[in-house]
Amino acid sequence: MATNRTFTMIKPDAVRANNIGPILSMMTEAGFRVVAMKYTHLNADTAGDFYAVHKERPFYGELVEFMSSGPIVAAILEKDNAVESFRTLIGATNPAEAAEGTIRKAFATSIGENAVHGSDSDENAAIEGDFFFSRLERF
Ligand code: CMP
Repeated sequence: MATNRTFTMIKPDAVRANNIGPILSMMTEAGFRVVAMKYTHLNADTAGDFYAVHKERPFYGELVEFMSSGPIVAAILEKDNAVESFRTLIGATNPAEAAEGTIRKAFATSIGENAVHGSDSDENAAIEGDFFFSRLERF
């Protein structure tokens, strides 16, 4: 059964473009509640750990470099059917394929610099949320 939490990051490109506010607005207007949130900066080691599942992919080095290039906002969000509902809200990984009205259509510039991350499964949502947040940081 689907659980009701997902994990997201507002990536360095969207933070640099000063789009934290409008992106959070789209999330809360779509009915997501913030369970946990922090503004932080990954380094090459922590970004590499977070994306270790992509280690063998040709874009891994570029991904780690980009994700450690500036601060990010990490958050756990809650809504019914959160993982699937949030992936619909953010749109396709490649913004050229993202639907109208999605966050990536509005704010992403390329497949690498795509403004936001969203977990792809309930299992990964739990792993990714645990990467950033302790039990004491969830409300
Ligand atoms: P994200 O949802 O954070 O999960 C993995 C990330 O890898 C993805 O978003 C993209 O930013 C990045 N990614 C996926 N495919 C490519 C690619 N072909 N080139 C560069 N980055 C990619």
